[in-house]
Amino acid sequence: MANIGSYENHLKNFNWSIAEKELGYLDGDVINIGWYCSDRICQLGKSEKTALIWEGKGDHEVKKFTYNDIRVLSNTIGAYLRGLGIHDGDRVCLFMDKVPELYIGLLGILKIGAIAQPLFSAFGDESLFVRLENAGTRAIITQRKHASKIQKILDRLPNLEYIIVVDDEGKKTLKDKEIVFHLDKAERVEKFDIFPTKAESGSILHYTSGTTGQPKGVKHVHYSLISQYLTAKWVLDLQDDDIYWCTADPGWVTGTSYGIIGAWALGVTQCVLDSGFSAEAWYRFIEKYRVTMWYSAPTAIRSLMKAGDEIVKKFDLSSLRHIASVGEPLNAEAVVWSQRMFGKPFYDTYWQTETGSIMISNFPGMKVKPGSMGLPFPGLTAAILDPDSFEPIYAVNKPGLIAFRHDWPARMRTYWNNEETFQKKFKNGWYLTGDRSTIDKDGYYWFIGRDDDVINTGGHLVSPFEVESALLEHPAVAESAVVSKPDDINMEVVKAFVTLHAGYEANDEMELDIMNFIRKKLSPLAMPQEIEWMDKLPKTRSGKIMRRVLHAKEWGEDIGDISTLEND
Ligand code: PRX
Repeated sequence: MANIGSYENHLKNFNWSIAEKELGYLDGDVINIGWYCSDRICQLGKSEKTALIWEGKGDHEVKKFTYNDIRVLSNTIGAYLRGLGIHDGDRVCLFMDKVPELYIGLLGILKIGAIAQPLFSAFGDESLFVRLENAGTRAIITQRKHASKIQKILDRLPNLEYIIVVDDEGKKTLKDKEIVFHLDKAERVEKFDIFPTKAESGSILHYTSGTTGQPKGVKHVHYSLISQYLTAKWVLDLQDDDIYWCTADPGWVTGTSYGIIGAWALGVTQCVLDSGFSAEAWYRFIEKYRVTMWYSAPTAIRSLMKAGDEIVKKFDLSSLRHIASVGEPLNAEAVVWSQRMFGKPFYDTYWQTETGSIMISNFPGMKVKPGSMGLPFPGLTAAILDPDSFEPIYAVNKPGLIAFRHDWPARMRTYWNNEETFQKKFKNGWYLTGDRSTIDKDGYYWFIGRDDDVINTGGHLVSPFEVESALLEHPAVAESAVVSKPDDINMEVVKAFVTLHAGYEANDEMELDIMNFIRKKLSPLAMPQEIEWMDKLPKTRSGKIMRRVLHAKEWGEDIGDISTLEND
């Protein structure tokens, strides 16, 4: 029996107080996600239940942690940070691979009332810099192998006081501001004064990319727990005896909302594989740990499809009870394929860094229409808006902008240091997601695309502006325009159109050099997969580069009105 019971009944009687009651939260009272995800689960009698099964890279080293372990170890990290003078409201960055310190560290940061800022460990120094600078981060917790990227930008970050290295072997001399903290060698802190955060106290700051300007810091608060708990229960259908695997990295919102908070607030056992993708490794992982609930993403699913059907048959995947997906359009073929291979469809879920929790989804028990994102979560007021009037469209199958009334617990509270851009996300009282969709006669949402130039590559948003700015820092690049181009697996990838300064030659070597430059500066995700050399870029008469024209060319679409295009 699925946790949600009847979706229709909940639509009639829904109130977020359902989650508040289950969590024992009193309005206006203290709410600390760190406590709910560890201490409370122990109080419920599950101290010895496994909270985390972690498997490392290469040699498959395994570590297991009970709920009491993560309670005590998050206390330990919290006490250490507090000892450094870090306190409520301070930003503490987590810049690590998917190691246990990342998961437990996040709870430790929350327990002292500080704000956790998880950043994807593959970020290069420039991506890291803009995010740390914007947040005014005081401390960063990292691994030795990533610390050199921080040293490169340290002199431009006056607010950064501590670089806490969790795996230093003591062989290297410590560099400026570096200190060493070993979680397994530290004295375990059994009893800890958790900071009494309230519903609106800041919890997590996730950075997301927009079309223009620098990445935006999405500010979440402790009250987000209410949505994350209930959606994990009703949509992901997490149950007490589940072995749950969320494949997302906590550098991104799925990895925190559901890879940490939702799962642990429900007292579920979750496992983490700290290594890259391979079909063989993933199926082996499911088989080895008897994974029952699997939350993944379309790019991974398409890669599994590409690896073929034969390989699936080599493994016993019969433990899987429920499977779901998020982050980019889940094509109908992938849903049909999973039904054939695993005996169940991937249940698509739609949401964003800004929404903090699942908004539209396929619920267990309901009819899945392959290719559709499903129905809005109970309690949400969702609509498709006319792009000119910003009024709801009631006509069936008519495209419009996906929008919500901004009143669910996990909604973002602002963009860090950027209230102006936050306010621009609203029209007529609606929060605009920036995505387009239709609604069919049964109320199901069908994703069409984004309403901006942001590139969603393999489920990760990349800002063309950020890549263009970085390209201009390459000595050979005179001008650039960045758009997406279609890709079988990642749906879309980054493509750059570049003009070179006089004296530089457009050849394969130069292409590789520029690609590498971006990979190191920003990240492998932002690296253009192709560079096309241009003599000049299409511009408006006022000199603005017309990305739209290049985008249309890549996607074989109509170029549209080009009357403003500059003539020779
Ligand atoms: O464009 C939508 C796409 O991913 C965007 C949100 O990306 P991000 O903030 O990084 O969060 C990703 C994980 C929650 C959305 O605006 N997106 C997300 N889920 C889907 C989707 N596109 C189509 N179908 C989905 N299920």
